[in-house]
Amino acid sequence: MLTTYTLEHQPYQVYRAGMEGPVLLFVHGFPLNHAQWENQFMHFAASHQVIAPDLRGLGGSRITDNDAVVTMEQHADDLNALLNELHITEPVVFIGLSMGGYVAWQMARKYPQGLRSLVLCHTRVIADTAEQAQGRHQLAAETLKTQSSLKIEEVMLPRLLPLPTDQSHGEVVRQMARSSSIAGLAATLRGMAARPDMTSLLPAISFPTLAISGEYDAISPPAEMAAWSSKIPGARFVSLPGVGHLSPIEGPHAFNQLLTESLPWLTGTTSR
Ligand code: MLT
Repeated sequence: MLTTYTLEHQPYQVYRAGMEGPVLLFVHGFPLNHAQWENQFMHFAASHQVIAPDLRGLGGSRITDNDAVVTMEQHADDLNALLNELHITEPVVFIGLSMGGYVAWQMARKYPQGLRSLVLCHTRVIADTAEQAQGRHQLAAETLKTQSSLKIEEVMLPRLLPLPTDQSHGEVVRQMARSSSIAGLAATLRGMAARPDMTSLLPAISFPTLAISGEYDAISPPAEMAAWSSKIPGARFVSLPGVGHLSPIEGPHAFNQLLTESLPWLTGTTSR
């Protein structure tokens, strides 16, 4: 079920399913929204409480300020406020993909008491280079100028889905990009450009952590993810074969199986 809450006077849309079991908080990437987890919802809602927001500025959580910057810390503040609003008092399994992983670092830094464990999918720990940050600012400016998500789709699609894949995956990504407010897309690009390097946090992470990469992921390559995840005490790293940057969409069966197998460890009902 989709519900729109009000957080700090802004609409904040959230998908929820499943009434019982540990809470799984699914946090999407860019330029996506809660629907990127469509293949996970029914699978996990049978035995878990599933919560999947549209992060501020994306999907149904629309914003109108063309000059806004939505930082990764702001997203973490929103998620903490959302969990309070939903009266979720138990710590959650935070499952973040790419930008969702950038947000996970801020949750782990600022609200560690709210976390049971982390699943970090296709994500990075370092900041943008100056060149990458400048590219995002240019893309934000172009998006505002044209009042269209088209340039973002052109730039991001080959990076998100690098393999010759089912056309429908590309269409799903385009639909998600088009569902967001233009101001929100620009604000999100600026927020990612401003994100800090979080490498120094890694040795202090004390929750069970599963890092998931994809064989053909060029945004967060397996070697890079293996290297940073080895700095998190006890973390487990898996690279899924035959997928790029969006394994929950490209390879839902393998993704769901891996997560299902890992959940007893991630929820603390068994040791690794
Ligand atoms: C994402 O999937 O969230 C983006 O690829 C992240 C990024 O552009 O750094």
